[in-house]
Amino acid sequence: MYSAITGWGMAVPENILTNADLERLVDTSDDWIVSRTGIRERHVTTPDETSSTLAIRASQQALARAHLAPTDLDMIILGTVTGDYSFPATACLVQDGLGASCAAFDIQAACTGWIYGMVMAHQFVSTGAARNVLVIGVEVLSKITDMRDRGTCVLFGDGAGATVVSASDTPGGVLGWTLGADGARPEQLYRKAGGAKHPITRENIDSHDPYISMMGSEVFKFATRTMGTAMEEALVKANLTAHDIDLFIPHQANLRIIEAASRRLELPPEKVFVNIERYGNTSAAAVPIAMCEAIDQGRIMPGSRVGCVAFGAGLTWGAIALQWTAPVGDVGA
Ligand code: ACO
Repeated sequence: MYSAITGWGMAVPENILTNADLERLVDTSDDWIVSRTGIRERHVTTPDETSSTLAIRASQQALARAHLAPTDLDMIILGTVTGDYSFPATACLVQDGLGASCAAFDIQAACTGWIYGMVMAHQFVSTGAARNVLVIGVEVLSKITDMRDRGTCVLFGDGAGATVVSASDTPGGVLGWTLGADGARPEQLYRKAGGAKHPITRENIDSHDPYISMMGSEVFKFATRTMGTAMEEALVKANLTAHDIDLFIPHQANLRIIEAASRRLELPPEKVFVNIERYGNTSAAAVPIAMCEAIDQGRIMPGSRVGCVAFGAGLTWGAIALQWTAPVGDVGA
C-alpha cells in the first residue's frame, strides 16, 4: 500500500507574545531577534491550555478533512517533549479526548518528533498493519522556558499540527525518508532536571535546571550541517533530486538555518515555506503547522512533491520526501 496524508490540522493558542513584549522581560531588541532568527511573534499557552488540548483541536480538524471518525483510527503517534505528564503518554489523553479506541503512544525526538512519527506511520500503513494512523507534533515549550534567559526565551512558541496517514492504492505518499540521531552531547540542548537522573529539587529549581538549556551556536552549526544533507538523503531514496521538489518545508527554528539549507539544495525562495515570523520555533509542531498553512495558501496540490526536514534535541534529525495525492479542497473542517 501507499501511505497518503489524507487529513491535516493545526492549533495554536490565541495569546500572542511579541518581540516588543520580550523587550520588557529581558535585555533584547526586536532588531536583534528579527535579524538573528526571523521571529516577530509567537503564540503561547495560558495555564489551562496544554499539549493535549492543542493536540485534540488539531486532530479534530485532521480527522474531519480525512472524512474519518475517531473510531476509524488504528493508531495515534504523538511527538512531544512537553507532554501533559511525564507519564502516561499524551497520546492516550488525546485518544480519550477524541473518542478513539486504538493504540496510542508518545515518541520523544524533540523537534524531529513529527518526522519520526510520520516514518513510523508509513511503516505500519505500507505493510498493511494499519489503515489510518494519526500523527501529531505538539509542543508547549513556553511552559519549560526560562523567561529570564534571553538566549532561549525569544525562540520558542506553542502549537500543534496533526496529520492522518492512510492506506491508498494511488502511487505517491511517502516516497523516501531518513532518520538519524547523535546522542553524544545531550547537554547541547536539554532540560536537565525533571527526569530520573536529576529529579526536581528546591536546589535545582534555584539553578534553573528544570528549564530548557541550549548551547545556541553549537546547535546552529549542527543544524546548518544536517538539514540539507538529511533532505538530500530522503530524496535519493525517493529517486528524486532537490530540483524535483515543488515545496520545501523545513523545520522553523531560525530563518538563517532555513536559508542555509535552501542554498545547499539550490532551491529558490518561492519553493521554500517560511512562517517562523508568526510562530517562532514550535518544535515538533513546526513542520505540520507549516504544511497546513501551505495547503491553505494553495502551495500544495495533488501531484505536488514536498520535502520536509527537521532537527532537534537528541540530537536528532529526519526528512521525508512525499508526493501529495489527496484532494486539498476545504471540506469544512
Ligand atoms: N537578544 C540580544 N542579544 C542576545 C540574545 C537576545 N535574545 N540572545 C543572545 N544574545 C547575545 C549573546 O549573549 C551574545 O552576546 P556576547 O557576544 O556579548 O556574548 C551575542 O548575542 C551573540 O550570541 P550567539 O549565541 O553567538 O548568537 P547567534 O547568532 O548564534 O544566535 C541563536 C543565537 C539565535 C540562539 C542561534 O544560535 C540559534 O538559532 N541556534 C539554534 C537554536 C535552535 O534552532 N534550537 C533548536 C531547538 S529545537 C528543540 O529541539 C527544542
